[in-house]
Amino acid sequence: PLLDNDPVKAAYVRCIPKAQFYKDVLLQGYFVPPYILQGLEEFEVRPDDIFIITYPKSGTTWTEEIVSLIFNDGDTKKVQNKLLFYRVHHLEVGRPIGHFRYLRKVKSPRLMATHLPLNCIPRQLRQSRCKIIYVVRNPKDNAVSYYHHHRMSTFLGNYKGPWDEFLTLFLKGHLVYGSWFDHVLTYWKFHLDHPDKVLFISYEELKIDLEKMVERIANFLDHPLPAETIKTIASHCSFDQMKNNNMVNREQLPVTDFFDMSQSKFMRKGIIGDWKNYFTDDQNQEFETVYKEKMAGSGLDFVFEP
Ligand code: A3P
Repeated sequence: PLLDNDPVKAAYVRCIPKAQFYKDVLLQGYFVPPYILQGLEEFEVRPDDIFIITYPKSGTTWTEEIVSLIFNDGDTKKVQNKLLFYRVHHLEVGRPIGHFRYLRKVKSPRLMATHLPLNCIPRQLRQSRCKIIYVVRNPKDNAVSYYHHHRMSTFLGNYKGPWDEFLTLFLKGHLVYGSWFDHVLTYWKFHLDHPDKVLFISYEELKIDLEKMVERIANFLDHPLPAETIKTIASHCSFDQMKNNNMVNREQLPVTDFFDMSQSKFMRKGIIGDWKNYFTDDQNQEFETVYKEKMAGSGLDFVFEP
């Protein structure tokens, strides 16, 4: 795939540190060393694992913090001194050595996350051995957020290209973790096949009524909570709270050179509709055309604008 004759794609791939393809999906090799890829297919999934699955920048961190608090019964003291990274375990973004050994030692229920497309997740996960929460976001906002994430992230080569080129890469599915469209569509179908095992929610639903969504997630996870606790969790997980929360905002990671925070903050804007500040009319039209073409007949009819 590196050798096709798309110069924009080739330039992009060249800037990704240790770029590699796993089942035709582009991944960076900075946090995803080859030994992790070798262990992915046969990774042992426990029936009481909980996986949060997203295309990058769809609200992963947000959902992770919500689920972590649900399993701590809304006790914010229990999460105030422990980085989210140590509470929700990323499947493929691992320790340089011994990542899977570490994951095997984590006590149940393990809270886990991954950005991998459906064809790349472990076999037992594809067989829906445990519950999954899939979060989708308006792809236009998703693209803008991913653009800023690329600019700030060392492990994505601190992207220097123009927005227009980035949008083209997004539409063609050439970015790290592949095509948004394939990602969302395959998990949407997976959810339709396994409605009891896969909760399919959107960033926008979280934004519009967080309390209702915390309750929905808690019930889905068979961990119902009293109304007061749900209120506490929703308040703790508001954008303003999370922006200032060093356990989730990446401002105090053990190693600080992953992100160039002068380019963007990890907790950047946290709003619906920022795409309007980036898309020209032409870009919007092109996006709409591709969207309609790719999503036609899928039955996925999320309303991304309130
Ligand atoms: P923006 O770049 O649009 O601000 P991920 O965790 O998947 O990497 O997603 C990051 C995006 O989710 C960023 O979007 C971030 O600001 C937003 N986000 C994180 N926590 C949020 C919250 N509590 N409320 C709203 N948006 C949040």
